[in-house]
Amino acid sequence: MAIDLTGRVAIVTGAGGGLGRSHALALAARGARVVVNDLSSDACEAVVEEVRAAGGEALAWPCSVTDRAGVFAMVAGIVERWGRIDILVNNAGILRDRTFANMDLDDFDLVLNVHLTGSVNLTKAAWPHMRAQGYGRVIFTTSSSGLYGNFGQANYGAAKMALVGLMQTLALEGGKFDIRVNCLAPSAATQMTEGLYSDEDLKGLSSGLVSPGVVALASENAPTRTVLLAGAGAFEQAHITMTRGIYVGDSVDAADRIEAGWDSIGDRTAEQVPASGSAQYVHEIAHPLRDGRGRSEFSTAKERSA
Ligand SMILES: NC(=O)c1ccc[n+]([C@@H]2O[C@H](COP(=O)([O-])OP(=O)(O)OC[C@H]3O[C@@H](n4cnc5c(N)ncnc54)[C@H](O)[C@@H]3O)[C@@H](O)[C@H]2O)c1
Repeated sequence: MAIDLTGRVAIVTGAGGGLGRSHALALAARGARVVVNDLSSDACEAVVEEVRAAGGEALAWPCSVTDRAGVFAMVAGIVERWGRIDILVNNAGILRDRTFANMDLDDFDLVLNVHLTGSVNLTKAAWPHMRAQGYGRVIFTTSSSGLYGNFGQANYGAAKMALVGLMQTLALEGGKFDIRVNCLAPSAATQMTEGLYSDEDLKGLSSGLVSPGVVALASENAPTRTVLLAGAGAFEQAHITMTRGIYVGDSVDAADRIEAGWDSIGDRTAEQVPASGSAQYVHEIAHPLRDGRGRSEFSTAKERSA
C-alpha cells in the first residue's frame, strides 16, 4: 500500500536547500505537515512556498540546530500549534575539510556540534513527546565518510559515525514506545558536494532520488536500527557486524596466536549483527571455539596464582 503520512508532523533540519529541501517536499507530498528548518529565514520561506504550491502544508522555523534553547522552543512551538511531532529528519550539516595534520580543532568541534549535538538537541527535545504519544520516527543523516572513511574528513567522519552510535542506543531505548530510529547515508549533488563529483556523475545524483528513502524511514512500517545508503535511485544497507573470531584463552602465546590469526579473526563466514553491545561479552564467554575445559582456560591471573 502507498505510504500515507497524513496527520503526521515532521521536522526537517537544514531544509532550506539541498537534500533537506527535497526531503521536506517528499514528506509533504505524502501528506505530512512539515516544519522547514534552516539558518536563513528566506531559504526556509522559499521551501515552504514550494510545498504550498504543490498542495502541501509547511511552516518555516529558522534557527540553528546548535542553539539548544532555540531548538527546544521550536519543538514546543510545533507541539502547541500542531499537537504532535512524529518524524524528525536530522539533516543539517556543514563541512570543514582539512587533513587531520592541518585541521584546526575549533573546526573539529564545530563540525561535531552541528552534526552530532544538533541532532541530539532536536531529538532530545522531541523525545518526550514521542514517548508520550507512543510513536516516533527519527532519521539521522550519516555518511559514507563516517562509515568507511574519507581523506580530509576526520571531523566530519567522526561526527557522522557518532550518529550511528546514537541511533544504535536510541533504537533500543525507543523500541517500547514505537520510536524507530534509523540512519540515512545519502549521495547527492548539492552545494556540499560541489567540485567533488564529475559533471557526468552529478547528473545522476539528484537529491530527489534520495528522498524516497526518507519517506520509507518515516513511514509506519519503517525498520529500526538500519543504516540505509541512498543515491541515484539505488538503496543499500550497511551493517555493523561481529565475526565469530578465534579463541586463544589465557595461553602464554595468546598475542602470537592473535598475530597469526588475523585472517581467522576477520573471517566473515559466521558473522552476526549483534542485537546490542552486550552480545559481545555473551559471545566471548561462551565462545564456540573454546575447548570445553571451562574455567581453567579462562581463568584470571589471580585465580591461576591461587
Ligand atoms: N550530498 C551528499 O552527497 C551527502 C553525502 C553524505 C551525507 N550528506 C549529509 O546530508 C545532509 C544534507 O547535506 P546536503 O548535501 O544537502 O548539503 P547542503 O549544504 O546543500 O545542505 C545543508 C543545509 O544545512 C543547513 N545548515 C547548516 N548548518 C546548520 C545549522 N547549524 N542549523 C540549521 N541548518 C544548518 C545549511 O544552511 C544547508 O541548507 C548533511 O547532513 C550532509 O552531511 C550529504
